[in-house]
Amino acid sequence: MRIYAAKDYADLSRKAANIISAQVIMKPNAVLGLATGSTPVGAYRQLIEWYNKGDVDFFQISSVNLDEYKGLSGEHDQSYRYFMNHNFFDHINIKKENTNVPNGLAPDAETECRRYNHVIKSLGGIDLQLLGIGGNGHIGFNEPGAAFEKETHLVTLTEQTRESNARFFAGLDEVPTHAFTMGIKSIMSAKKILLLATGENKAKALYDSFFGPVTPGVPASILQLHNDCTIIADEEALSLIREKTNWKDVNYDN
Ligand code: GLP
Repeated sequence: MRIYAAKDYADLSRKAANIISAQVIMKPNAVLGLATGSTPVGAYRQLIEWYNKGDVDFFQISSVNLDEYKGLSGEHDQSYRYFMNHNFFDHINIKKENTNVPNGLAPDAETECRRYNHVIKSLGGIDLQLLGIGGNGHIGFNEPGAAFEKETHLVTLTEQTRESNARFFAGLDEVPTHAFTMGIKSIMSAKKILLLATGENKAKALYDSFFGPVTPGVPASILQLHNDCTIIADEEALSLIREKTNWKDVNYDN
């Protein structure tokens, strides 16, 4: 596990985009596991800029997204499909048919989960999985208590997650109650993991995840057991780690 401290959001986004573009350059037909949320937006912007300069090419890339709200169509402006199109896919040369997001309108949840697991496997697995982190340590929509052995499944969102995501909707009532998410097993199967965290409201989640015990109570803590996990965080997100541990910008491996 490596932790990099970023000076600010621009630095964090550039560092993340560097790692993603390195993956794309090393393996032009790589499978990228992508994430939504506000945290990775800057990295997507940076990649778009480098794409426009001709420095990185997504033509052969495939992608699988972590999660999607149940009940939202891809045209709904709060769906994760819409987010990905608007923040990334529409601005680069990835083939849309090679981008995958769970179908929020799938009539049968179990069939949809099976289909999505099959998509990931038929692509040969994920080369690099990008992750944000929830204030309660969730990754994707794997909320505290999620079983570590699950692949894609349907989850009931916690009130905390619905409340923190309500800022993007007209009101709390509009926030879906359920979502499809890749499970912890799917995430842990990725060859490389890149987790981004910004802001003080992530400080506890980051400390608990990487300096506490591995427990389903803190879903991201399982990443301690991944053998190629990189974390990039700003000073606010690192504040508790700095306060409570002797970690000092030293990249360490476990
Ligand atoms: C959502 C997403 C997660 C994301 C989290 C944090 O719940 N399902 O994948 O990591 O929000 O979002 P943000 O980056 O906006 O803090």
